[in-house]
Formats: sequence, C-alpha cells, structure tokens
Amino acid sequence: MQVTRQQIVRELINNSAVPQQEYASAYAASNIALCKYWGKRDVELNLPVTSSLSISMSHLGACSKISLCDSAEDHIFLNAVAMSHNTMFYQRLVEFLDLFRPTQDTKFTIDTKTNIPVGAGLASSVCGFAATIKALDALFGWDLEPNELSILARLGSGSACRSIYDGFVLWHAGSAANGLDSFATQLEYDWPDLRVGILLVDGRQKSMTSRDAMQSTVETCRFYKTWPELVTTAIEHTLRALDHKDFWLLGATAEANALAMHALMLATTPPIIYSQAATLDYMQQVWRARSAGLGVFFTQDAGPNLKLLFLASDEARVRELFNEIEVVAPFVPVTENIVCVYE
Ligand code: PMV
Repeated sequence: MQVTRQQIVRELINNSAVPQQEYASAYAASNIALCKYWGKRDVELNLPVTSSLSISMSHLGACSKISLCDSAEDHIFLNAVAMSHNTMFYQRLVEFLDLFRPTQDTKFTIDTKTNIPVGAGLASSVCGFAATIKALDALFGWDLEPNELSILARLGSGSACRSIYDGFVLWHAGSAANGLDSFATQLEYDWPDLRVGILLVDGRQKSMTSRDAMQSTVETCRFYKTWPELVTTAIEHTLRALDHKDFWLLGATAEANALAMHALMLATTPPIIYSQAATLDYMQQVWRARSAGLGVFFTQDAGPNLKLLFLASDEARVRELFNEIEVVAPFVPVTENIVCVYE
C-alpha cells in the first residue's frame, strides 16, 4: 500500500509541538549534481531509482524566516515581494507547509531570501525547501537529526534532501517502501581549489518541470533500464576522483553522466530537449578548450544552462573564454552570508 507523505511526517515529528520562539530562520545552499538523480521509484515520496552525488553551492542559496501568522492563509515573500497564489513557488511551498501544520488553521508567514541569480538553472525552490524545513525544526524545537531533515526536505523536492549539507553530498537511494533509508549524507572530502561556473543561456522558466520530464523518461524511454548501472559506476568513479583529487576523472565523469541523462530524454516519447542552440555552442567551446589542454568540463540539469567545473588555477583562462560566467568556490569560507540578513 502507498505510504503517504503525511505518514512519514507523523513518523518523524511531534506535530502537536508549539513554537519555541516567535520566529526562526535558516539557510541552505543550492546544490548541483555531479551524478544525477533522474527517475523516481515512488512519485508520492520522491524516492529515487538511484543514488546521486552533488556539490553544494556555498553562498548561493536561500534563507527562510518563518513565523506563525494570524490569518486565513499563508503569507509568502520571495526577496521581499509577496508571492501571489497562482505562482508555482507559492503553491509548492503551501503544499509542503500543509504537511507540518499543528492544526489545519495554523498559517505561516515565510520570508524567503535568495541570492541565486534569477533563472540561473539553480532551482531556488530546492534550497527553499531545505531552508524551510531547517527553520521549522528550529521554530518548533523538533531537534531532528540531519538525516531526518534530509528525508523531510525530500518530500518537498527530491534534490532538496542534498541541500541540508555543505560540500560533497551523497543521496542514498535506499530501498524501503517508506523511504526512511533514502536520505543524503555529507561526504568527508573537501577541495578548496574546485570551482563551479554558472553559464547562463536562458533565464526564463523551463518549458517542462523536472518532475514531469523524469516521469516521462521512466515511462517511455527504452534505454532507461541502462541508467541505474550508469549512475552506480559514475558514483564509484567520482568517489575515486575525490580520493585521489583527480580533477579530470571528476570532470569527465560528471560531463558524461549529464550527457547520458540528456540522451535518455532525447529517446523519450515525445522527446525532451532542454538544450538550445547556445547550449550546444558552449559545449563545443568547452570541448575545444579541453582539446587545447584546459581542464574544463560541464554539467547540465533540466534546463539549457551549463555549469562548468574547473580548478582555481584555470579560473582566469575560463573567465576569458566565458565572459558572463558566475564563479562559485564551494569550499572557500564566506565571511558574511548576505542572504540571511533580515531587518
Ligand atoms: O529535485 P528535482 O525534482 O528538481 O530534480 C532534480 C533533477 C536534476 O537537477 C536534473 C538532477 C539532480 O540530481 O539534481
């Protein structure tokens, strides 16, 4: 029988808890998968077919400040702008909050701030769910373990479960029907020289959500059965690359894994193509630079934008080739997190 999201929430938290403070806020970084999550074995609980491995984007993320409000509905702000009810952001967040209301009448005010460039292909909703569950935990004093927070964030959006942590993160697929063994953990590696560059092709909202695209791939792509083994091997190679600080292995594995995911989509009925002409131009540019000896690789999610992987020593050359790139240093500590400043 299908386990519901509400059952999982009841399993993990005391839903009758009262707020321990007037408001609580928390930050969560965005994350980019090097070995992708593509396909659910359970749509209700966002349980993945495979494990996946990501890197958190340090200072690029979202902060969520949450309090109870005396009103008939939730009030949701994104970067100080009240979100209207017909936005996807509002609807998905309200649906997520529904899981955690002590009573039906409990309404929340959520003030989300994000410094993710609009449309950069780094879903702000993903870190929004992770920041919101951390803030709810603080507000109600649930005192959950990180893996429990990760499970609850997953109920909002699969990849949100990885945004509970910094650095390299592994989301264990798990096998239990209730998904209590499907959560992310932080990997004990750091790589201060690693850089991620965001290459914006198109900032508009994507034509098809990753949720729908994934489902369609699982249901109609004849090659989908090859995917679990591909990802397992990619994760093994990535872990080896992390062990040996082998950047070329890391980059080549991530790039091949992203291309394989997009190849599956191409073989889906009807085909799903997120790339635009400029995406392909950038890919060619990356390949040309690499054949000239530059250590640069790309990965691509459910959108036309690319994320480049390179080392600090090559940053100047990469910036020369890709002028508009936004560079993130995932392991360089940031002194001040501007997102979490509330008046
Ligand atoms: O968590 P979702 O439903 O937004 O799916 C994320 C899918 C990819 O970004 C393409 C891959 C991944 O592992 O993040």
